[in-house]
Amino acid sequence: MNRGFSNLKVKSPKKLLLSSAAEVPARWRREVERVIVTEQQLAKRVRELARQIERDFRGRELVVVSLLNGTVMFLADLLRHIAIPLRLDFIGVTSYGPGTESGELVVTKELRLDVRGRDVLLVDDILDTGKTLSYVLPMLRALKPRRIRVCVLLDKPSRRVEDIEADYVGFQIPDYFVVGYGLDFAERYRNLPFIGVLYPHIYKKICKAVVANHFRKPRRAR
Ligand code: IMP
Ligand code: MG
Repeated sequence: MNRGFSNLKVKSPKKLLLSSAAEVPARWRREVERVIVTEQQLAKRVRELARQIERDFRGRELVVVSLLNGTVMFLADLLRHIAIPLRLDFIGVTSYGPGTESGELVVTKELRLDVRGRDVLLVDDILDTGKTLSYVLPMLRALKPRRIRVCVLLDKPSRRVEDIEADYVGFQIPDYFVVGYGLDFAERYRNLPFIGVLYPHIYKKICKAVVANHFRKPRRAR
């Protein structure tokens, strides 16, 4: 992990060249080692993705299906720039455990909208090993949508285990564990307005402190 990031790039049509590392805002300087994608770069790229999606789905019955919780900021910014009719629903999938690897996947919220015969845009925060999307896509396909396209803000191709690619990618990043703009480490740092990397001691500290029980115990339905 945490190798150089000279290969940070945006999938076509544009490349993002990080000529100089952006400064970490003062508020976060004790925890965040570096900014990988700035607020401005996020805003620009998200608008570009929205325009592309708008063109591709014009005239279709679009249902946006977003995976909780990491997509919260990306989704809100993306949707406000997509000016075609759409419906929105969420699927909750989480991997148990607070670390940086996906563990066993559990559905925490099921889809409620009917997607049969409709065009689905599945939105996730980051495509890493691909295990999450490989778990969700067959569930969605079983609901017989007309087609499914996948949109992710970040893509870490070097970590891929499953044979899966996204149709829309904000930024390709190297093998860093990143936080911010919705992405968390042990449920923290989702509120950073940029994408960044924490100092190693912060990852270690939180891992130690955690918190086997920072999630509520699931209650059985009656
Ligand atoms: P995958 O199943 O390995 O593709 O990982 C997908 C999920 O793992 C994402 O939706 C995130 O919730 C989480 N994840 C993977 N990499 C990162 C990261 O660098 N930062 C924060 N969350 C990550
Ligand atoms: Mg996620």
